[in-house]
Amino acid sequence: MPETITASFAGIDPLSAVTHPDPYPYYRELAATRPFFRDERLGLWVAAGPREVAAVLAHPACRVRPPAQPVPPALAGSAAGDLFGRLIRMNDGAAHAPLKALLMPMLAAVDPAVAAQQAGAMARVLDEGEAGRVAMPAASVNRWLFALPVLGVAGVLGLPVARDPGGAVGVAQQVAAFAAAQSPLADADAVRAGADAAQWLGTWLAASLAGMAAADGPLPALQHAAHAAGIAPQAVAANIIGLLVQACEATAALAGNTLLWLGRDPAAGEMPLASVVARVAQYDPPVQNTRRFLAEDAGLCGHALKAGDAVLVLLAAASCSGVADDARAWTFGHGRHACPGDKLAQALAAATVAALCARGAEPAALARAFRYRPSLNARIPHFL
Ligand code: HEM
Repeated sequence: MPETITASFAGIDPLSAVTHPDPYPYYRELAATRPFFRDERLGLWVAAGPREVAAVLAHPACRVRPPAQPVPPALAGSAAGDLFGRLIRMNDGAAHAPLKALLMPMLAAVDPAVAAQQAGAMARVLDEGEAGRVAMPAASVNRWLFALPVLGVAGVLGLPVARDPGGAVGVAQQVAAFAAAQSPLADADAVRAGADAAQWLGTWLAASLAGMAAADGPLPALQHAAHAAGIAPQAVAANIIGLLVQACEATAALAGNTLLWLGRDPAAGEMPLASVVARVAQYDPPVQNTRRFLAEDAGLCGHALKAGDAVLVLLAAASCSGVADDARAWTFGHGRHACPGDKLAQALAAATVAALCARGAEPAALARAFRYRPSLNARIPHFL
């Protein structure tokens, strides 16, 4: 009943929930009482129940981008738009299938434990930039959350990031700038910075790939296979950068929310860190929603949707709903576009939290002073 929801959860809606201090009672209520509905104010259909979320993600008419708008208008025509438009994450077309078929096994072959070791090694590189510090200030925690997972992925891919702290942090900052420009909340400066970052990353990656030998991780083999399959080198390069970008905000959020969980529940400190991270992925998830756009009229969850309609898929509501028996972390998506980096991300988040705590970061202190970064889909703490 809409009225009940409005009365008991005033001031929260499916988008503001992402950065609300405790959106989970609201999500649970939605999943139980309005698992699929139209939010007229937001102009979106909303899927909140696990069955409805699964149905939307599985429906062939539901696409990751509006068919008439493959690239967000703010990015179109820039280096950031070119890069975005080539990402398999942002495409459903058959044209992207061959590259996806090469990328997925490459990622699946990455050993999460090795990625965690890489993140640990990168932490030691970053230590040089923090020399002389006794405790870990919040600003460093924020910086490391955004750097270590990205550099861990770069490390397992064999990209040259381990040379010096300045260079490594520089790469991570460019990745973060490109990631931030993709948000609908990005202002003109952020969009401009994202376009510059996309350009910078393209040049950096080309130089890095040119200097790599076949022994340097999986990328030379990927390039070789892509060339043999007639895939454009620009598409390969964009999707390699895409892996770093996909590791950025969401894994920072998973690690940050794990620090909060540890800070609020001292008993969790006795559990294996991997279990805490898995619990956070389900109950305080980093990616709270994703969107789908109808390519044609279709019946969905008992409603008639029109071509061009948008559906907000509340992964976080499905996760915490308790409605279905098969409780799971929906934050990694499901179906055709499900995240192939889920295990990697959890290993990197755990390694990042471990590295921070080993350097004096105190979860209880961090949990006393933080806010969430403005976002319509990711729940990323920023420590103060
Ligand atoms: C906590 C961290 C992460 C979370 C919560 C996350 C979540 C997601 C979600 C929800 C999707 C699907 C989006 C949709 O269906 O609309 C996705 C797709 C994807 N993710 Fe992740 N991700 C994380 C980390 C990573 C990492 C570390 C990598 C790789 C290095 C990665 C690579 C990808 C790729 C390539 C796709 C696109 C798959 C496709 O479209 O076929 N992700 N991720």
